[in-house]
Amino acid sequence: MSNILLIKSSLNGEQSKSNALANQLADHFTLLQAAKVVTRDIAAEPLPHLSQAEMGAWMTPANDRSEAQVELANVSDTLIQEVQDSDTLIVAIPMYNFGVPSTFKAWADRIARAGITFKYTETGPVGLLENKRVIVVATRGGMYQGTEKDSQTQFLKDFFAFIGLTDIQFVYAEGLNMPNGEHSFSEAQSKLESLAN
Ligand SMILES: Cc1cc2nc3c(=O)[nH]c(=O)nc-3n(C[C@H](O)[C@H](O)[C@H](O)COP(=O)(O)O)c2cc1C
Repeated sequence: MSNILLIKSSLNGEQSKSNALANQLADHFTLLQAAKVVTRDIAAEPLPHLSQAEMGAWMTPANDRSEAQVELANVSDTLIQEVQDSDTLIVAIPMYNFGVPSTFKAWADRIARAGITFKYTETGPVGLLENKRVIVVATRGGMYQGTEKDSQTQFLKDFFAFIGLTDIQFVYAEGLNMPNGEHSFSEAQSKLESLAN
């Protein structure tokens, strides 16, 4: 059995194509491997920008935290625990202005925590998470895969590698707002099906 963390970030909720594709993949895993799925929808429950107060709470020893700091630290602790408890992360992510949705950035800012998910050594940073597979389901209105305008793909590779997750695969559904969009969507569906098998 595998534990899947399904991260959703589209503003489009039920109409979202990235959510639909990622749901399909999670359903395949559930059927084939009796996977358990935990969903974190960061668009439905958006995270605010990271604040100095929240970082201050992380840096205050747990026993010395005020009530407010306990509550603030709990946000990141909960999100990190969800990642730690999973062996597969499915990340459903639309392209917003050439990058990731700002809510995803707010999530990532709470996942990268010194001493918990990464540490600095004499030779540079080392990720502290391991043995997790990351599958990114990336939807775009236009066509950007493999071009310099796709800052999203490199950011996701760098971010997940920074915390130790280097086993990362991308499935793209591009050109969804273009005339051949439906074809691209069904191609992504087929790729996801073979990926799960
Ligand atoms: C705020 C916003 C910004 C967008 N920026 C881009 C972009 O830079 N490049 C692109 O190809 N599509 C862009 N799109 C289109 C979405 O990526 C596309 O509609 C995608 O299918 C949305 O995924 P979803 O159906 O899961 O919400 C943007 C859409 C929104 C709402």
